[in-house]
Amino acid sequence: MTTHFPYIRAILLVLLSTLSIHMSAQDSDIRSGKLWLDDQGQHINAHGGGILQHNGTYYWYGEHKSDHTSNALVGVTCYSSTDLIHWHNCGVALSMSDRPGSDIERGCIIERPKVIYNHRTGKFCMWFHLELKDQGYGAARYGVAVSDRPEGPFEFLSSQRANPGQWPTEFDSRALAIADTLHIARYQQWWTPDWYRAVECGLFVKRDLEGGQMSRDMTLYVDDDGKAYHIYSSEDNLTLHIALLTDDYLHHSDRYTRVAPAGHNEAPAIFKRQGTYWMITSGCTGWAPNAARMFSAPCIWGPWTQHPNPCIGPRADKTFGGQSTFILPLGNDRWIFMADIWRPRHPSDARYIWLPIDFEDDKPVIRWCDEWHP
Ligand code: DGJ
Repeated sequence: MTTHFPYIRAILLVLLSTLSIHMSAQDSDIRSGKLWLDDQGQHINAHGGGILQHNGTYYWYGEHKSDHTSNALVGVTCYSSTDLIHWHNCGVALSMSDRPGSDIERGCIIERPKVIYNHRTGKFCMWFHLELKDQGYGAARYGVAVSDRPEGPFEFLSSQRANPGQWPTEFDSRALAIADTLHIARYQQWWTPDWYRAVECGLFVKRDLEGGQMSRDMTLYVDDDGKAYHIYSSEDNLTLHIALLTDDYLHHSDRYTRVAPAGHNEAPAIFKRQGTYWMITSGCTGWAPNAARMFSAPCIWGPWTQHPNPCIGPRADKTFGGQSTFILPLGNDRWIFMADIWRPRHPSDARYIWLPIDFEDDKPVIRWCDEWHP
């Protein structure tokens, strides 16, 4: 019996781990960082994602990632759920194109897709960060797609840079006069105090004025009054912009503001509580995690104030190994903080962090929980 014990133990361990993988698809807890199986027994493939609640169903949209590349070989995926635990794979909501030269040609980069519903038009509107095929991260565009149904198929409309020809709303005549004195050729060396001051005063806004502002990591937000906003990392990821959308949610209006100029923020996620807007972001360290940042404002147009990292506990200084992507309102003063644990060497194996947001002294705090029920 003693000689067989290691074998029996090994078999029992295999059985138990198989059982626990299957249980994770069936029980009722969220387990951040673990595999999360859909209704077909596959790890959910919806990274950098966001969630739309529509007619009692949650729709989770995200980047489909392949085993060996983060480039978009498939498109934006959609999953649906009524309990936030069990997810039905609805398939590909926005497919990549096989037409050479298409903005969304297979192999381009599509990141952080978000979908909002427009009550006036009855359309589902998807915005995402788009990098054209074989151009690295140089294009820095947003893309827009639309559908009559939440699960798609979404029709791609267009992609471009943001707000060409427009200065931020807060640029009064004094700020414009200062910007007028800034010449990009004089600031070849980055990260010097002079360069920081120039970026804060709009050096890169001016550089990109004609062709439009860069638009990378992004989210969408619909306010209580139905106005929708596109929030994105601009100015070479140095400054966040918040741009008001047109009433059909398919274009930028002319109005936008800057948040934390030269602050180097990515991965914006936003919610509103008791009249205060809270935004959680990350620093810019590629796929590697860093400490989350947090800002608040009494109005979406600012002024925005920075607060300490809202994460608490082990690995809080690395956002528990993740990077923010979305904040899901549950109602009754409850929100879920959603983040991605990237796996750049095996992109499809990237994991999800979903944690409840608590409030201490009326400020959001996020604590790690191995498992919890939403
Ligand atoms: C961090 C961003 O947040 C991600 O969406 C992705 O663009 C990576 N950088 C690429 O390095």
